[in-house]
Amino acid sequence: MAKSNMDQDILRVLYSEEQLKRRIAEMGDELYEAFKDRNPLFLGVLKGSFIFMADIVRACQIKSDVEFIAVSSYQNATSSSGVVQITHDLQQDITGREVVVIEDILDSGNTLYFLKNYFITKGAKSVTIVTLLDKPARRTKPIKADYAGFEVPDEFVVGYGLDYAQKYRNMPYIGVLKPEVYSKQ
Ligand code: IMP
Ligand code: MG
Repeated sequence: MAKSNMDQDILRVLYSEEQLKRRIAEMGDELYEAFKDRNPLFLGVLKGSFIFMADIVRACQIKSDVEFIAVSSYQNATSSSGVVQITHDLQQDITGREVVVIEDILDSGNTLYFLKNYFITKGAKSVTIVTLLDKPARRTKPIKADYAGFEVPDEFVVGYGLDYAQKYRNMPYIGVLKPEVYSKQ
């Protein structure tokens, strides 16, 4: 295991590297069966999805292309501001495409509710939502994941792409942050 100066800030591990790997392999197989004849466009939501995106597209060996969009809705807080801003837009026409959105976590639903409508107005033929984590307890928007890796309790989690104040994204596992780490700020 790599040395870490982040492990000390973690209260408990929710999903280990091994558990993530196994679940993502299963999800990749499911997506393969659903999309093998549909020329999907895998569309990652930055920054949170960058690690999951890299793993899920390799777990799903379909001839496909990848695209990214970057949004922000959090101002270094642990709950969403509700306002979604596109900070880096699509770099291609998605008209008629079968878009498979890859997201790290579905929380209030603000981000994916906004993005799903955005992709539809941009002409996507279909929009499928794939999220690694689903936190249904906090949903305020009418949106559901088509594929979800794990359902998580209502706690703030970090690692495997997920951040707190832009840190902890590079941890190979997902854990719950010690409350004192964010109550300090
Ligand atoms: P939503 O718009 O409230 O559904 O939140 C979606 C975004 O908020 C995700 O893409 C994450 O970037 C962030 N987010 C929500 N919950 C957490 C969490 O527990 N840890 C880290 N980021 C989170
Ligand atoms: Mg995110």
